[in-house]
Amino acid sequence: MKFLEQIEVKGRTVFLRVDFNVPLDENLNIRDDTRIQASLPTIKYLVQKGAKLVVASHLGRPKGQFNPKMSLKPVAARLEQLLPGTKVIMAPDVIGDEVNHLKSNLKDGQILLLENVRFYKQETDNDPEFSRKLAEGCDVFINDAFGSCHRAHASVVGVASFIKQKAAGYLLLKEVNYLSKITHNPEKPYVAILGGAKIEDKIPVLKSLVTKADVLLIGGAMAYTFLRAQGKQVGKSLVEDDKLEIAREILKKAEESQIKFLLPLDHVMTASIESGVVNQIAEHYPLPEDLMGVDIGPKTIEEYKKQIKIAKTIFWNGPLGVFEVKAFSTGTVEIAKAVADSGALSVVGGGDSIAAIHQTGVADKISHISTGGGASLEYVAYGTLPGIEALG
Ligand code: 3PG
Repeated sequence: MKFLEQIEVKGRTVFLRVDFNVPLDENLNIRDDTRIQASLPTIKYLVQKGAKLVVASHLGRPKGQFNPKMSLKPVAARLEQLLPGTKVIMAPDVIGDEVNHLKSNLKDGQILLLENVRFYKQETDNDPEFSRKLAEGCDVFINDAFGSCHRAHASVVGVASFIKQKAAGYLLLKEVNYLSKITHNPEKPYVAILGGAKIEDKIPVLKSLVTKADVLLIGGAMAYTFLRAQGKQVGKSLVEDDKLEIAREILKKAEESQIKFLLPLDHVMTASIESGVVNQIAEHYPLPEDLMGVDIGPKTIEEYKKQIKIAKTIFWNGPLGVFEVKAFSTGTVEIAKAVADSGALSVVGGGDSIAAIHQTGVADKISHISTGGGASLEYVAYGTLPGIEALG
């Protein structure tokens, strides 16, 4: 994989894929511009070198329909604020004559931001003709969209076949450097912490980590599917009944690999998430049948902290409880503090885990906060991503 500094870009038209999939509020204001900030080093470098920049991103999941609520217009405005003195032109579309005209009229150091690439179904279909149209008039392809690299879509993968010179931007390179370190060569002990609601999203990463990590700490509602798979009664806790078989398989693999696969020892239980009330801390089975588990309990926090303390490498994705409700956020917050204090090489991905890191004020003690939740999980699972492979 080439790096952008290895390519001559002056006066050339560069198709730059970024991940500007930022959250917007009901008035279409950007709630968090972390992802825009994260690609600024690449954008600034290219502007300063005198490239003509055609910037592409998706925002949300418009499912192939033009949807003004998912327009990249607010992003164009923010980008211009963040880059004083740089002209940012908002394109009315993604492909077509008008866009091509704007592309060919770009001056060195100017930016043309295309509309949301997912306004076309051909984007997610990785359609070759659409990819060719995206590439029209472009001499260089730079991918800085780490958060989208697990998607084999036209602007991430397809476009690479139509542009000869291609390379990774600063953000993509940084993400890959950290993730490849923990995936291919982790310093031991390697502790992985996985939380979140569902096993479903995490099957590949679980299958990979049960052979690679030394310790797996499980939290969030997905712990209940594992506990149920062990035959335990977990009350009203969320269980994915159709995933019990795969949960058993993963538990068996963990046993064969002789890794520590730890499930919660005690549980913060509530009658309803909406109540925001802790009704009980339970540790004996069957768990109360009218209550559900919404966070790891104090004994689990202590045990998990012990494991985290001795780690040399940590990967964390997903909250340990219903983090958005204050009464059920203690486990996630305590784990965030422990990861920060561990001194290990730590990589954190996924919206809620990152929110916990920020809320706890420990972001500067985490080695790397990934801009890709799904992408970081898939990288750890497979050791590469379609968007990285496409760069050659
Ligand atoms: C993300 O937010 O994780 C990326 O932008 C990818 O978005 P997607 O899950 O809609 O493909």
